[in-house]
Amino acid sequence: MIVVTGGAGFIGANFVLDWLAQSDEALINLDKLTYAGNRENLASLAGDPRHVFVHGDIGDSRLVGSLLAQYQPRAIVNFAAESHVDRSIHGPEDFIQTNIVGSFHLLESTRAYWNTLPDEARQRFRFLHVSTDEVYGSLASDEPAFSETHAYAPNSPYSASKAASDHLVRAYHHTYALPVLTTNCSNNYGPYHFPEKLIPLMIVNALAGKPLPVYGDGQQIRDWLYVGDHCSAIRRVLEAGRPGETYNVGGRNEQPNLDIVHTVCRLLDELRPRTDGLPYRAQITSVADRPGHDRRYAIDARKIERELGWMPAETFATGILKTVNWYLDNQQWVQRVQSGAYRDWVEKNYGERRP
Ligand code: NAD
Ligand code: TYD
Repeated sequence: MIVVTGGAGFIGANFVLDWLAQSDEALINLDKLTYAGNRENLASLAGDPRHVFVHGDIGDSRLVGSLLAQYQPRAIVNFAAESHVDRSIHGPEDFIQTNIVGSFHLLESTRAYWNTLPDEARQRFRFLHVSTDEVYGSLASDEPAFSETHAYAPNSPYSASKAASDHLVRAYHHTYALPVLTTNCSNNYGPYHFPEKLIPLMIVNALAGKPLPVYGDGQQIRDWLYVGDHCSAIRRVLEAGRPGETYNVGGRNEQPNLDIVHTVCRLLDELRPRTDGLPYRAQITSVADRPGHDRRYAIDARKIERELGWMPAETFATGILKTVNWYLDNQQWVQRVQSGAYRDWVEKNYGERRP
């Protein structure tokens, strides 16, 4: 069996659901259930003995040590993190605590467990760390996309904390020979995406008749990948990646934010037109920019394509249509995640940006 951390969050939940749809290998899901973790994402697995949910912190060495000793996993996939750049700007401490200190404790627990394994199991074991392209910092419009050898230059507390965890993972391979793998992926979108991030926020606000807040000039570029394709990349790296290597994962789909927002608006105009006949783009509002806003991210995914034969299955057109339809079909999920804590966050982040 394998252990997944952060499997109640956006990408982790998609990974858990995809994993169990494609294999009968059991999975232990360790999640702290922060504001971003939601057991409802895994409701379809209720009663499935292949999924064991454990409520806990990756930094809790005693808990993690006893889980590893009890279940003897062949791999750990580490999704657990604080993941939202804007929250890291308002309050970096949780990011340092989970992404750096928590990852360190998880690595220590893993190393202690790995040292107890018999030779063959030690060889076979993998620790896969899920990271982001944001560790590389920002690209000028004419620079080539990030390859695995691009220098790290993180600019936000979020990306700095992810960069620190990547470095620790790397060091555990070089120093202790722990068989680690790291994936650095571009921006994901898809089902179960918490509506604090660009795409789900735009869908949810559009349907609620609220402003669609575009930071600054809206010309910042991200490389968008459908979440199911990120999950297939992680499965492939786990299966065939070389220990100690890092793999960049991306969708070859660079787009400015404003284009993304227009696409979402256009799809909603077709699928769920406004009752007053106006287009959803009428709700777009320019608001104050994010401090230190990275201008452009782009991934060169040739290594994972060439070495592991991975390719995304979705284009942006197919992925975004699935995503918008998912949000239209899952309005109850949307309502339930918009708790009091969510409303407090919206007031904190957007209240001070009012034009
Ligand atoms: P998310 O914020 O939706 O989910 C994070 C999950 O981790 C939540 O379920 C949360 O409860 C859990 N968690 C947080 N702290 C924890 C702790 N100390 N112990 C155990 N569980 C904890 O994040 P996501 O978007 O699903 O991202 C998952 C991973 O992928 C992160 O490591 C992130 O850096 C990385 N990543 C995200 C993207 C993206 O576009 N969302 C892109 C590339 C990489
Ligand atoms: P986000 O989804 O937070 O991901 P990241 O910052 O990790 O790339 O933001 C994606 C882009 O969208 C980023 O350039 C910031 C921008 N953005 C807005 O313009 N308005 C918003 O309300 C949000 C949340 C993001």
